[in-house]
Amino acid sequence: ADVFTYDPGFTSTAACESAITYIDGDKGELLYRGYPIDQLAEKSHYLEVCYLLLNGELPSRQQMEDFEYRITRHTMLHEQIQYFFRGFRRDAHPMATMVGVVGALSSFYHDSLDINDPWQREVASMRLIAKLPTIAAWAYKYSIGQPFVYPRNELSYAENFLHMCFSVPAEPYHVEPALAKAMDRIFTLHADHEQNASTSTVRLAGSSGANPFACIAAGIACLWGPAHGGANQACLEMLRQIGTVDRIPEFIARAKDKNDPFRLMGFGHRVYKNFDPRAKVMKESADEVLELLGIHNNPTLQVAKELERIALHDEYFVSKKLYPNVDFYSGIILEAMGFPTSMFTPIFALSRTVGWISQWKEMIGDPTGKIGRPRQLYTGATFRDYVDVDAR
Ligand code: CMC
Repeated sequence: ADVFTYDPGFTSTAACESAITYIDGDKGELLYRGYPIDQLAEKSHYLEVCYLLLNGELPSRQQMEDFEYRITRHTMLHEQIQYFFRGFRRDAHPMATMVGVVGALSSFYHDSLDINDPWQREVASMRLIAKLPTIAAWAYKYSIGQPFVYPRNELSYAENFLHMCFSVPAEPYHVEPALAKAMDRIFTLHADHEQNASTSTVRLAGSSGANPFACIAAGIACLWGPAHGGANQACLEMLRQIGTVDRIPEFIARAKDKNDPFRLMGFGHRVYKNFDPRAKVMKESADEVLELLGIHNNPTLQVAKELERIALHDEYFVSKKLYPNVDFYSGIILEAMGFPTSMFTPIFALSRTVGWISQWKEMIGDPTGKIGRPRQLYTGATFRDYVDVDAR
């Protein structure tokens, strides 16, 4: 009989070679193409990071201009896609709408489905990065009964997203530059994270030769789960449920109780056994945004900070090396910006799209690539003869 290595949850199996993102979980280090995340978050901007992830090097001024120009020219959606949105219930979760709409892109853009044609792969990549903010914003607009707002070419990627979410035809939303910067930083911090569940899903889907729109839809579906990208929504809801600082011990006790399924959302990570470097940047950003918006004594932020402080000194969390992850503080910023919790995971999805595409392109370009096909340890019945229904 065949002998297989059994590794549930892939805790010790490398499924691919990759030159895109490096994580040192013990040190709490995250590098995109060698550049540390904190430097990129401070000095770079999201579209430059997209270029870096996709191409391996930082762009020259000219390369950056060309890239931005191309992304900007793909932000519109085929007009017919509006009817697709309108087919959903208004109260649909925006992630449900996004999985559907992104999957449906392959029925609109026939000239970018051939994965063997480098030009088509390139166009599909540009389209996905450019259109995801439009799709996320429209999923939101639809859910609140407001008209869809078209993208505007003179705005930056982050400004444009805020505009499409918060402008109405009667009144354009004034995009505060500092808020656009914070939005851009959230995109940057989420851009890639090597072989996490959704990225592995995109690779697995892509390994069969499925088209890129279908693969990214699969990634979005996987990201939605509360153990993954859905944690940002779950975390803010948990912080609200805790409500006040005096109730924290009760929730800490629940998180430690083996008989209670409750976990501290935004805590713990498969790879990081130290501070998630993204959480550090996010925490500073949260302080800045609340300051900028003049929100003082925000109860959710107070609960978050105190929860973090208590957990970092608690024997259970210390011994299991459970630290705040990227999802712990992002929700506070997004809420302050005016997003409902249901938009947190869509924002993660649109930010991660470039990571998924970079990984998908790397895989497609690998001549040794094979279809992803895990084996199993079979535990079912052994051979037996069929029994006629009268004899059962
Ligand atoms: N609260 C309480 N206990 C926890 C937590 C938590 N948040 N996370 C892990 N543990 C415990 C867990 O019960 C287990 O204990 P024991 O060894 O006694 O059975 C131990 O720590 C190891 O946990 P695990 O589930 O085996 O670890 P994993 O690597 O499979 O899971 C995780 C990683 C992120 C799914 C998990 O830590 C978790 O569920 N965290 C909460 C959800 C969350 O914040 N997810 C976002 C992850 S980061 C960004 C993203 O992917 O979106």
